[in-house]
Amino acid sequence: MAEITVQDLSKELRDAITRLDLTEGLEESGIVTRIGDGVAWVHGLRSAGYNEVLEISTASGVVEAFALNLMEDEIGAILLGADQAVSAGNTVRLKGEVLSVPIGEELLGRVVSPLGEPLDGGAPIKTKQRGLVEREAVGVMGRKHVSEPLMTGIMAIDAMFPIGRGQRELIIGDRQTGKTAIVLDTMINQARQKTGVINVYVAVGQKLSKVARLVDRLKSEGVMDQTIVVVAGPSDPASLLYLAPYAGTAMGEYFRDNGKHALMIYDDLTKHAVAYRQMSLLLRRPPGREAFPGDVFYLHSRLLERSAKLSDALGGGSLTALPIIETQAGDISAYIPTNVISITDGQIFMETDLFYQGIRPAISAGLSVSRVGGDAQTKAVKSVSGNLKLGLSQFREMASFAQFGSDLDDATKQQINRGQRLTELLKQPQYQPMSIWEQVVSMHAVTSGLFDSVAADKIKDAQAALLAKLWTDHKDDMRTLSKGDKKFGDNEELVALVEKTAKSVAKGFEG
Ligand SMILES: Nc1ncnc2c1ncn2[C@@H]1O[C@H](COP(=O)(O)OP(=O)(O)O)[C@@H](O)[C@H]1O
Ligand SMILES: [Mg+2]
Repeated sequence: MAEITVQDLSKELRDAITRLDLTEGLEESGIVTRIGDGVAWVHGLRSAGYNEVLEISTASGVVEAFALNLMEDEIGAILLGADQAVSAGNTVRLKGEVLSVPIGEELLGRVVSPLGEPLDGGAPIKTKQRGLVEREAVGVMGRKHVSEPLMTGIMAIDAMFPIGRGQRELIIGDRQTGKTAIVLDTMINQARQKTGVINVYVAVGQKLSKVARLVDRLKSEGVMDQTIVVVAGPSDPASLLYLAPYAGTAMGEYFRDNGKHALMIYDDLTKHAVAYRQMSLLLRRPPGREAFPGDVFYLHSRLLERSAKLSDALGGGSLTALPIIETQAGDISAYIPTNVISITDGQIFMETDLFYQGIRPAISAGLSVSRVGGDAQTKAVKSVSGNLKLGLSQFREMASFAQFGSDLDDATKQQINRGQRLTELLKQPQYQPMSIWEQVVSMHAVTSGLFDSVAADKIKDAQAALLAKLWTDHKDDMRTLSKGDKKFGDNEELVALVEKTAKSVAKGFEG
């Protein structure tokens, strides 16, 4: 096959190759044979490795590329610069390094391309270090059990599907179901609660107007200082979209490896897989099932494996991942969703029906799961969330009966009433992540029946009144509760105080 390609070449090109072969050998140098769609085909460079950076000498200077498709006599390389300058016959050399991006504190507050170049019109970014775009995941010995909470501030998640630092939790749902809203609020929560967690938001193929709005919000909420935004837009070459999640991860790993905690958000991996497919077709890799390359599974598993809670010996830092997958008509059994579900530690499933019923965030209580976060859950939240889960699952069961008959016994009616109030309680507007004490107190008021007398459609008002009153009158107690390190029931005085306040608030909303 290699032979045929060489014979197809023009005489001029063949001569160039022969010259090169005689003078320098085809191990470390090569010749561009074809070029197009951001891909350069290079004859020679036999010692090039996967992801190695190549330098193409063109009439207007050096253009870099990286090697992806390594074949016997020819390699396919992805250009990192404009392809206008590159032409057949250009000589190519190994730069002697694999693909890396700038990493470090200097990137905080910045919006950058997958190569770490500023996209925010700000000053050039000069970092002291670079990080490998593709890196081996930390081995088992370097890891530790996930044990610290990564609080989203979204009560439905923190209470029912808690996420731990180092965990990989998928956010999955159709378009316009509030997936990005979840991760945006989670980033805001890291600033509000002063968790010190660094956010790395990787936008893959998102409309630039949407990304700009998100960045504006991060700025106005004071979150940008602890955030890096990596953007590959819909009109960027597929290669940049392909690189973006790996490059962002390298930037996040810097914090993980320095004993800090970073949160990776990939918005979204569906578009990433599509970009990979496009790139693979250009590189003529064989397409696999559903016209996706067979290794699309590997594409995402080698990315998400880099999230980890590190051992004490390695500094105890962490990298948490919230990948996003967009489904079509709620179909989670398609190839890409199934893959990512199988390589994450659980999923938050967003339901279109709930969204349109006004139940927002539209988190499905039945289909969502978090497999490793339980041990990491904030103690105070955990101590009151058991009743919430139980109440909601009983409600789901009962509600299906309730549609058929009107003569329900009192116990059933009571469970339905409670479930309706819990459902109301879990509604949460955007940009309002809740602190620990707010979550604990709100949950306790409803699950312990103190708000049973409040009409379901007044639950949010009663909750707001309760929180306002407690904060006005008992700031210090609430601050202590917000440390989260004790069970709510442990402090009987505090429980009595909250219950008394909840009862008096409930009176104002009866009817
Ligand atoms: N909790 C919420 N309450 C009210 N509106 C919401 C909530 N979450 C999302 N939205 C709105 O729903 C729309 C879709 O949300 P978005 O996060 O962009 O969806 P997706 O990322 O799933 O496409 C946006 O207009 C957003 O403002
Ligand atoms: Mg979105």
